Amino acid sequence: MTRILSGIQPTGGLHLGNYLGAVRYWVEDQALGESFYCVVDLHALTVPRDPASLRRDTTEVATLLLAAGLDTDACTLFVQSHVAEHTQLAWLLECTASIGELRRMTQFKDKATKGGEEAARVGLFTYPTLMAADILAYQATHVPVGDDQRQHLELTRDLAERFNARYGEVFTVPEATIPPAGRGARIMDLQEPTRKMSKSADSEQGVIGLFDPPEVIERKFRRAVTDTDDGADAVRFDPGLKPGVSNLLAILAAATGRDPTEVAGEHRRYGELKAAVADAVIEMLRPLQVRYRELEADPAAVEEILRAGAGRARPVAGATLRSAMDAVGLLAPR
Ligand code: TYM
Repeated sequence: MTRILSGIQPTGGLHLGNYLGAVRYWVEDQALGESFYCVVDLHALTVPRDPASLRRDTTEVATLLLAAGLDTDACTLFVQSHVAEHTQLAWLLECTASIGELRRMTQFKDKATKGGEEAARVGLFTYPTLMAADILAYQATHVPVGDDQRQHLELTRDLAERFNARYGEVFTVPEATIPPAGRGARIMDLQEPTRKMSKSADSEQGVIGLFDPPEVIERKFRRAVTDTDDGADAVRFDPGLKPGVSNLLAILAAATGRDPTEVAGEHRRYGELKAAVADAVIEMLRPLQVRYRELEADPAAVEEILRAGAGRARPVAGATLRSAMDAVGLLAPR
């Protein structure tokens, strides 16, 4: 049976990378089996967060996922902190993971070096064990994520296998489902095309927000960094040599469900390519933006969906937690 689980941080201002790398696949594949999607608010606490903005962003991201097309008849949408089993299972996985393997996580290294490792929160270090708990609690077979989560998924698989080997078969070993390269797996910043598009970018100019109005999207693409050789066959898909142009082609390919090399053959000049990408992205985001405005008007309905979602998620996570607790030798509470 196919069981899908994925999560997204409520960091505010979701961007095109989140959408093309993950969310659109959640929507496309939600009915393939049983699927669970969560807004991972606990993960957001691994870096400083203002409580009011965390609250606002959690509702905003949940609303946006619904606007993007998640359908609660087909999937379960919930907030991570509403299902306490995630943190309970995370402890068992912290006692399965080693300090060495968590130290090797590149996201930890990147984020911890920014503010100095001494000051980094312990939660930032143990973050991947909570993520593994999110996944393993649901016995997920498939985890749709962008390429930047590959290492976390490898760790999740290692932890599941190690736990099963030590204590008996408790967890399903999940597979990452990452879009093909050049089709949304790794959308790059428009201003710095060798860096991935990210919420924590220094400048907004290289990041397409899912709420950006058409004129802002057009402007950001018009100013996107390309290369200097705008000659006859300048439009080529070659991420190593031409990161900026290749990123534009990958976005256009992902937005139109085509292949980046094929798309490259249809454009001669950078300016024309940029206009085509902007149009495709504006058209892709338009229905999502319209639907968001409708849903935003009724926050109580979104709250109710999240409450019901947690209600559906809890027994599934609870059953796994009980098996895992029993396997390691914890007494069942009476
Ligand atoms: P987060 O919130 O950073 O990102 C959510 C999803 O968006 C993808 N993504 C991208 N894809 C392509 N190009 C980009 N530039 C880009 N930026 C982000 C991410 O790969 C991700 O799929 N640790 C996770 C959240 C998480 C999770 C989980 C995911 C917590 N528990 C359990 C899956 C299963 C994260 O920080 O994603």
